Amino acid sequence: MTRAIELPRARPEIDALPAYSKASGAATVRWRASSNESTIAPSPAVVDAIARVGAHGHLYPTLFADDLVAALAERLSVSADSVLTGAGSLALLQQVLTAYTGPDTEVVHAWRSYEAYPILIGIAGATAVPVPLDAKHRHDVDAMIAAVTPRTRAVLVCNPNNPTGTELTESELRRLLDGVPSHILVILDEAYREFAEEQVDGVALLREYPNVVVLRTFSKAYGLAGLRVGYAIANSAVAAPLHAAAPPFGLSSVAEAAACAALTDSGHTDRIVESVRSGRDHLRSGLADRGIETPASGGNFVWIPMVDRSTALDAACVAHSVSVRTFAGEGVRVTVGDRDAEDAVLAAVDAFTADRQN
Ligand SMILES: Cc1ncc(COP(=O)(O)O)c(C=O)c1O
Repeated sequence: MTRAIELPRARPEIDALPAYSKASGAATVRWRASSNESTIAPSPAVVDAIARVGAHGHLYPTLFADDLVAALAERLSVSADSVLTGAGSLALLQQVLTAYTGPDTEVVHAWRSYEAYPILIGIAGATAVPVPLDAKHRHDVDAMIAAVTPRTRAVLVCNPNNPTGTELTESELRRLLDGVPSHILVILDEAYREFAEEQVDGVALLREYPNVVVLRTFSKAYGLAGLRVGYAIANSAVAAPLHAAAPPFGLSSVAEAAACAALTDSGHTDRIVESVRSGRDHLRSGLADRGIETPASGGNFVWIPMVDRSTALDAACVAHSVSVRTFAGEGVRVTVGDRDAEDAVLAAVDAFTADRQN
């Protein structure tokens, strides 16, 4: 006789979480332009460091990545207790949300923005308050300020914004910071900062606005997405609860050594940034030649707002062996940095346009 068993149930918030989107055609294509990875492999200095430290993989790393914290604090001219590292900036965002938000609180963020936001906010048990981007795919600062309520604990700003690439100017960001009460955290996600045109510096702003937390990453301009290293910078009083909530040994010794080595090879980062800048110019101007306007991008990607034709363009890209990231009914995001992949996307656009005319 089979016994009826009742399995353990997760918290209802977890059952309700949205799922991550999938890259199109990921298994079959030649080029991955779907995940905003660097198209250039890590610096040889990083590869050497991984091999060196890997030989000591039987030993624990320091509890909180002391060497990397010290290197970042020196570079940013902040105290070491203002810096935290983690397994990607996503892990740090989770830590910030866990420490500062929770049930019966709200987190305001623009939408469309990085798809992990509503998921991580939901995991923390808080309520996401999405504020639509404006007609130019940019943050609507006034609407975000107006969305703040007594339950708001954090405002999350993606600058440059994934997936639209749009940036806030420094004066827009200051207007947002001036409009948000100082007991509310403003989390600035600067994952794409190195590629930005505006060069707004969240770390400079946090000296004036102590409620700012800046998130940065080694995944993009340093080409270390697979090694999982991110960091947060905050006023030391705001950082203290984050240190308390930090998972011990959160960064592997290999990841820490890789990040330290990456910091020593700025020429490599410059090459990654240069390939991205030239790739997005090439793709945007090729699209403009074909009558498709795209928002100026400060990220390593270009947003093609195809609205109801997004899924069809996605299929054309896969047919040309490029995987892209598509949000149906909104647009297609294409990671740049590989000229052949950018040209394949342009060829896909040509084929797609010809198809529509036949
Ligand atoms: C805006 C934004 N923040 C954070 C991340 C994740 O960064 P990490 O690899 O450091 O977790 C991404 C990755 O695509 C991103 O687009």
